[in-house]
Amino acid sequence: MVSCRAASNTPTAAGDTQEPGVQRIAIVGATGAVGQEMIALLRQRHPAIEDVRLLASARSAGRTIAGVHGPATVQALTAEALRGVDIALFSAGAGVSREFAPLARDAGAIVIDNSSAFRMDPAVPLVVPEINPDALAAHRGIIANPNCSTIILVMALAPLRKLGRIERVVVSTYQAVSGAGARALAELDEQTRAVIAGATPQPGVFGEPCAFNVFSHDAAIDDAGENVEERKLRDESRKIFADPKLRIVATCLRVPVRRAHTESVAIEFDRAIDVDAARAALGASPGIRIVDDRAANRFPTPLAAADQDDVLVGRLRSDPSLADGRGLLLLCAGDQLRKGAALNAIQIAELLSERRES
Ligand SMILES: NC(=O)c1ccc[n+]([C@@H]2O[C@H](COP(=O)([O-])OP(=O)(O)OC[C@H]3O[C@@H](n4cnc5c(N)ncnc54)[C@H](OP(=O)(O)O)[C@@H]3O)[C@@H](O)[C@H]2O)c1
Repeated sequence: MVSCRAASNTPTAAGDTQEPGVQRIAIVGATGAVGQEMIALLRQRHPAIEDVRLLASARSAGRTIAGVHGPATVQALTAEALRGVDIALFSAGAGVSREFAPLARDAGAIVIDNSSAFRMDPAVPLVVPEINPDALAAHRGIIANPNCSTIILVMALAPLRKLGRIERVVVSTYQAVSGAGARALAELDEQTRAVIAGATPQPGVFGEPCAFNVFSHDAAIDDAGENVEERKLRDESRKIFADPKLRIVATCLRVPVRRAHTESVAIEFDRAIDVDAARAALGASPGIRIVDDRAANRFPTPLAAADQDDVLVGRLRSDPSLADGRGLLLLCAGDQLRKGAALNAIQIAELLSERRES
């Protein structure tokens, strides 16, 4: 993509000439929840890129969907469809990425992958542009986008690391159903209507009914009782911060929210932390918006975070259960389809383009 001046909600002026650097983009998984968000963000931030290929499974080939420049036809993902692409944005699941990302890379594209396929590969950078942009320099054609809950968490933790060493993090997530894809979102809508009409809907995408319910995250559970989402939060946070000893534990839940994940975070530092200093550090950090109005009892919510670029942070307070003021509690909420997936991937592409131009 493109020059990455657009680091906010500000759209690039329509009618720009073709942007330098990136001419051709492929969106793999264009019909999915993340793919749709990528299309919307490219339309907003980079309308001058003319060649945006919309790729999905053979099931969707020939379908017309809203593209970056109006109605566009979806193509089946094949090695051929990836030829001549500068940037390939993958969001079609880990299996598809494992098979096709190396083909895209070998054909000359830089792959930015939203799946879990390469995140923990030591040879693949795992990047949040506001936090570890320098990790990009080591890429060999594939760059991993972190898990959505991880991105939202590390965005809130990163500015606080300047105040003291973070010794331990305990996080509970309240995750939107669209984190499980477009079908899950449709299921929430259908089940909500059905319950209101007096029916008892059967679970489909999830093992539990998702309307009017809260349940343990649908990711697989290991023998120790930890699910894969909880493991991703830990392992990916350690990799992004290059802090393999960080003590971090998560409990991940689904809630009947359409989009944006909320996280309750307890942080233990190696020293006393002043709450006002924490609020100031967070407020000065790009990509964070403080929502912390005690008088009005207004704090981050998924409704307020939905469709926003920023991660909302608030409910900041000292943890009285820890001695010497070493504990800080906070709530954060971020749109997992946007900063948790599509926006972060596009920001990575923008950063690559900026570096190529400078
Ligand atoms: N949803 C989120 O909040 C979120 C956040 C961060 C990361 N992610 C990751 O992003 C990826 C996509 O998630 P999603 O939520 O967008 O899922 P989704 O809504 O279920 O969409 C999946 C997309 O992948 C395509 N696809 C499936 N099988 C394919 C195949 N064999 N070949 C080519 N395309 C294929 C689908 O095409 P068809 O329509 O043709 O089936 C669809 O476009 C996953 O790896 C997910 O873990 C998701």
